[in-house]
Amino acid sequence: MILFLLACGTEPADTAASDSGTCETAVTWQNFAQGYFASYCQSCHASTTPDRHGAPEGVDFATEAETREQAAAVRRTVLTNSTMPPGGGLLEDDVALLTEWLDCAPAR
Ligand code: HEC
Repeated sequence: MILFLLACGTEPADTAASDSGTCETAVTWQNFAQGYFASYCQSCHASTTPDRHGAPEGVDFATEAETREQAAAVRRTVLTNSTMPPGGGLLEDDVALLTEWLDCAPAR
């Protein structure tokens, strides 16, 4: 019974730990992610865009908070499945920086 409870409890905790606090990075919203999401995502994924090109309502990447909330979906669509941005064209440098930004809590 105790083992069962522990097994249930560990997975979300592990995920949370790997999303923040296990490493520090110089890659921040201000010096990288904001510009990245503005260049590659916000033309479709922002509440202010004149034409979402079919991007779902609420899947927006205009602020750090809303982007962090959707970190898992960003990782999946951009890094794992390469379905976003739709035309592709992700630079190698950006892959490395985006991976680090998603993995690490910025040093503050
Ligand atoms: C040219 C417009 C366009 C751009 C640019 C774009 N997207 Fe999308 N996005 C879409 C459309 C259309 C959908 C809905 C269809 C789909 O899911 O494939 C979508 C869906 C999504 C979803 C939700 C679907 C899912 O599988 O969770 C995520 C997350 C996402 N995009 C992330 C991104 C990210 C991150 C970027 C920037 C790297 C980006 N998109 C750039 C048009 C765009």
